[in-house]
Amino acid sequence: MSHRTRQLPRRSCLSVPASSEKMMAKAAGLGADMVFLDLEDAVAPSEKEGARAKAVDAIKNLDWGDKVLCVRINSWDTKWTAFDVIEVVGSAGPRLDEVMLPKVDTAAQVVALDLVLNQVEIRAGLPVGHIGIEAQIETARGLINVEEICAASPRLETVILGPVDFSASMGMPSLAGGLAIPEYPGDYFHYVFMKILMAGRANGLQVIDGPYVKIADLDGFRQYSRRTQILGYDGKWAIHPSQVPILNEMFAPSQAQFDRASDIVDAYREATEGDRRGAVMFGDEMIDEASRKVAAKVAALGERAGLTRTRTAQE
Ligand code: COA
Ligand code: MG
Repeated sequence: MSHRTRQLPRRSCLSVPASSEKMMAKAAGLGADMVFLDLEDAVAPSEKEGARAKAVDAIKNLDWGDKVLCVRINSWDTKWTAFDVIEVVGSAGPRLDEVMLPKVDTAAQVVALDLVLNQVEIRAGLPVGHIGIEAQIETARGLINVEEICAASPRLETVILGPVDFSASMGMPSLAGGLAIPEYPGDYFHYVFMKILMAGRANGLQVIDGPYVKIADLDGFRQYSRRTQILGYDGKWAIHPSQVPILNEMFAPSQAQFDRASDIVDAYREATEGDRRGAVMFGDEMIDEASRKVAAKVAALGERAGLTRTRTAQE
């Protein structure tokens, strides 16, 4: 279903331990755009193999609506990766949309997953290419190689920043894992945010911010989420149900922004097709092809979030 899901909204991406039937059942009924059943860090080593069958059962038997549905497998430096794919993708059926690969260091690791998926899909009777890939960048090597990683497979749909593991990989002395540090002049994560965003966009991928671990601090969550939302990230992880509605609101344009963006798209189309001009005035500002692109993205995001226009430029 990578066809179906490539352009679907991922404002809120909810992480759910695949070892917990209770949380998976709850997740299916929540309003997250995307849910991933985690076999990696939220699952204890002793539960890893048992969690695969629980994930398969949840994928097949719960009603996931039109959510993007994903399983996070274990990274290639464990003994579980290929077997996670064989057991889960091999049995889950067509409703599973994607697999998330954590701790991606090199493009070759994405290619390896792509090749395993080819074989598992054929054996399971799925169309080859059905399963999309989400790549998590959360190591120093992964960030250095992110441009090649984002271009490594046509299955790739998103690239994700994993801030906590990234801080650990960098040996950053702070335990904050990407949270703002007031003593530091500027945003010490800005380069990381931008590098991942550029690599993702250059390859047509959605770009997603990782978790905020202080689940009781919803104001802090909002402030953190603003940092990547302002840059144009498509969405962010939620690790608790209370974070989901905040992300759905924050990563969608407001009604006013949506109306204005739609007006700009219309005004520009009229100007270029009618007057055959490339730059025109819209109210008190000049708009051109670059403004149209920005406006078209905002309009598309609003449509994805279910907004409809309350007025048109002609009114
Ligand atoms: N997905 C679905 N349901 C969840 C959930 C999640 N990620 N986190 C909590 N819930 C459910 C709980 O089961 C509980 O359900 P109930 O009201 O039907 O009993 C309800 O939401 C309220 O949960 P709460 O009691 O506030 O939290 P908790 O103590 O049960 O769980 C965590 C706290 C952190 C253990 C839990 O949120 C969690 O496991 N989150 C995901 C962690 C993860 O995936 N980490 C890896 C990626 S960073
Ligand atoms: Mg991680």
